[in-house]
Amino acid sequence: MQQAPKAHPPLPKRVDIIEVGPRDGLQSEPEFVPTARKIELINDLVSAGIRHFEATSFVSPRAVPQLRDAKEVMQGVDRSTGAQFTTLVPNMKGAERAIEAGVDALVLFMSASESHNLKNVNCTRETSLERFREICAFAAQADVPVQGAIATAFGCPFEGEVPVAEVVRIAKAYLEMGMRVISLGDTTGMATPPLVQERCRALREAVPELEVTLHFHNTRGVGLVCAYTGLLEGITRFEASIGGLGGCPFVPRATGNISTEDLVYMLHECGVGTGVDLEHLLEAAQRTETLIGRTLPGQVMKAGPRLKTHSMDTVATANG
Ligand code: COA
Ligand code: ZN
Repeated sequence: MQQAPKAHPPLPKRVDIIEVGPRDGLQSEPEFVPTARKIELINDLVSAGIRHFEATSFVSPRAVPQLRDAKEVMQGVDRSTGAQFTTLVPNMKGAERAIEAGVDALVLFMSASESHNLKNVNCTRETSLERFREICAFAAQADVPVQGAIATAFGCPFEGEVPVAEVVRIAKAYLEMGMRVISLGDTTGMATPPLVQERCRALREAVPELEVTLHFHNTRGVGLVCAYTGLLEGITRFEASIGGLGGCPFVPRATGNISTEDLVYMLHECGVGTGVDLEHLLEAAQRTETLIGRTLPGQVMKAGPRLKTHSMDTVATANG
């Protein structure tokens, strides 16, 4: 059989997939997913070879009741493979709870746009940054690494364009606090390939010490194209959610992340390694649909990988 042609532009040989479905996905589900089911979902993905999880959030249970069981989730997941479990943290109370629950790293998050930060965490961006300085000092004492996330990094549902300078400014502040890994969140699916290219290049220029992670939502159908644009820029960390679960409860008409299995499928077809077993992942995506009780947007779980052939007997012959 003829081999599929390899992608011609140089791409990274290997990338890390960070599964955010248990956090970004489940936080916006209308029904609370029972703790045992959340743990089962994460452990299923550990078995598929996923080694990085944003497992939950230590936020106010009033703001995000779906994740009120953050501690119990952290305590129930399979830690035997060395998979890394990070969680979102907005303030000192969240940091204390996350460290007590034994997370591998805190992910401090704020928005690049002022209005989204006010809506999401009820304070200005400057207050978020002040809180983060204190949290970084506290986490350093506990010897827990801290990463940073920047929401609305490609556009804001309330303000429109978000200047790249704002993203760079926050990234620099994160670096000064001692962070080495940051994530650019496309909270409402406003990223486009030119914006991804622009922001990756600006960060590489201004803060080359930072390892950049990309987080896209497929709200406007260009999520995977944005991920591919990131690959071309040499990015090696991508966040995605199983089945394409997700959204954001604090923005109108938000939809899910790019789906983990579609991303892994694309990467493998481009010769980029992930360490993830695609077949297992596709089955896990189907189990997630059962767990949630509705069809999820992921596509490869429906069509199968491209070389999954069908028996001719199962397809009717056209007679027109
Ligand atoms: N974990 C648990 N409870 C928390 C908390 C945390 N991290 N932070 C605050 N609380 C509790 C306080 O103890 C207080 O409870 P009480 O009224 O019973 O005393 C209450 O929440 C209000 O505290 P306050 O510090 O005034 O917070 P706030 O009302 O200004 O809300 C946040 C700020 C950040 C806690 C809240 O907006 C939040 O959790 N946002 C998360 C949004 C999110 O997850 N978005 C999705 C990711 S993009
Ligand atoms: Zn998101």
